[in-house]
Amino acid sequence: MKLLMIGDVFGRVGRDMLFEYSERGFFGADAVIANIENAAHGRGVTKSVFDEIERCGIDGYTLGNHIWDCSDIINVFRYNDNLVRPYNLEGDLAGLGAAVIKAKNGIKIGIINLLGRVGIQNSATNPFLAADRAIEELKPKCDIIAVDFHAEATSEKQAMGYYLDGRVSVVVGTHTHVQTADEHILPNGTGYITDLGMTGPAVSVIGMDKKLVLNTFVTGIPKRLEPATGKGQFNAAMFEIDETSGKTVSIERINL
Ligand SMILES: [Fe+2]
Ligand SMILES: [Fe+2]
Repeated sequence: MKLLMIGDVFGRVGRDMLFEYSERGFFGADAVIANIENAAHGRGVTKSVFDEIERCGIDGYTLGNHIWDCSDIINVFRYNDNLVRPYNLEGDLAGLGAAVIKAKNGIKIGIINLLGRVGIQNSATNPFLAADRAIEELKPKCDIIAVDFHAEATSEKQAMGYYLDGRVSVVVGTHTHVQTADEHILPNGTGYITDLGMTGPAVSVIGMDKKLVLNTFVTGIPKRLEPATGKGQFNAAMFEIDETSGKTVSIERINL
């Protein structure tokens, strides 16, 4: 089966890119999973933004460190069970860190979202031990598992790839908004890429208006940043998975 994993959808421009490639059938994917942590004006997700994205026919969603930027995310969790927030957040929080979605061909896909701890400000617990628990939780309920490890450090993401190699079908990194050219199949059959990149404004500093970001860096005076407008880019990777063995057989990186 073909599983399309889409990198951080950023603001209006990112959402427009989803509609554009949805109309083209998402490259013939049997299932589509998108990271939407930046979908609402670059920060978080609201219920109305989620409902808009749902019209694209995406099957599952992951989030990241921007999860609580819009308090309305609570309402998204209340009415939808096809999106996951970082599993390794402690406390009595809304939403799930692991969930099962159904692909168009009937295959049940377990999705897990994890948050890194190296070079990124958050209160996440150990993502490696959390991954063990999430896999145990999902294994009896699904055919294959895909993990979105939302993290800053390449080292932490590569380590997670090897940690989960052979236990899940796919490990993708997200968060940096810059796609890496290292897609490959790990020794035990897990498809891996360090970062999917961003689906959002092509001319920007990781999604934000470059003039505002530059001004902040050059003057040292922090300014409120706004999403960039203009031409969009679509960043994703297509994983061809043998659903019997659960192994990835090929990966195609997409940067349009
Ligand atoms: Fe992001
Ligand atoms: Fe992020």
